Amino acid sequence: MIDLSSSTPFAEGGNRKCFIHPTQSDRCLKVIHPGLLEKIIKNKPWYKKFRTKDSFDDNLREQEAYKQKALIANDSEVWKHIAKWYGMVETNIGMASETELIKNNEKIAETLESYLFANGLTDEIKIAINQFHKWLRDNLILTKNLIPHNLVIKIENNEIIIKIIDGLGSQAFIPLPKYSSFFAKRYVERRIELMSSRINWDLSGRKGNWK
Ligand SMILES: Nc1ncnc2c1ncn2[C@@H]1O[C@H](COP(=O)(O)OP(=O)(O)OP(=O)(O)O)[C@@H](O)[C@H]1O
Ligand SMILES: [Mg+2]
Repeated sequence: MIDLSSSTPFAEGGNRKCFIHPTQSDRCLKVIHPGLLEKIIKNKPWYKKFRTKDSFDDNLREQEAYKQKALIANDSEVWKHIAKWYGMVETNIGMASETELIKNNEKIAETLESYLFANGLTDEIKIAINQFHKWLRDNLILTKNLIPHNLVIKIENNEIIIKIIDGLGSQAFIPLPKYSSFFAKRYVERRIELMSSRINWDLSGRKGNWK
C-alpha cells in the first residue's frame, strides 16, 4: 500500500486530490475527497436514485473510459493527447488512480485555463487547439465536456500539445456513441463546439450560460 500521510496534494479539483507519486515523480495519484461519495449519494435527486455509489466514483468512471474502443490501439498518435493510465492502486487514504504526471522541465504542466487567462488566445494556442480538435475527430475519442481546467499544456519540440488529464468518457445518457461511429462523430463534433464556446465564455468574463 502506498503511504501518502507525509504527502501534500499538488492540486485538487471538485472530486479528487492529486499527489505526486512518492516513489515515481513522473506519476500522479488521485484520491476521491473523503466523504464525497456519501455526500453525493445523500443529496442525489430522485432520477439518479437508481445509480450505485460506484457510478459516481470519478476514478472508476475514468478507468472504464480508458478502456474505450479508440484507445485499444497501442499507437502513439492515439495516445498523443492523453495522460497515460497505469491503473488503480491502494493508498492509506483510499484507492487512487495512477496516471502520467504531465510536466515541462520538471515543473508540473499548467492548465489550458491558466494559460488562457495569462496569455489569451495566442496564435500558438489556436494552432494547438486546432491540432487537438483534429486528433479528437480522427480518432473519435469520447470525452465528457472538455473544460480548460481539465486540459494541460505540454511543450514538445517547441510546440504546445494539449493533454487531457480529466474527463475522458462519455456523458451521453444513451451510450450510442460507444457503439456507432455515426453517433460518435456527432458526439465528438458537439464536444468540440462546446469546448470552443467554453473558452469564449471563460475569456469574456463568464457571463450567462456557457453552453
Ligand atoms: N496528470 C496530471 N498532470 C498534471 N497536472 C494534473 C494532472 N492531473 C491533474 N492535474 C492538476 O490537478 C487539477 C485537478 O485534477 P482533476 O481535474 O483530475 O481533479 P477532479 O477533482 O477530478 O476535477 P473536477 O473538479 O474537474 O472534477 C487539474 O486541474 C490539474 O491542474
Ligand atoms: Mg478536473
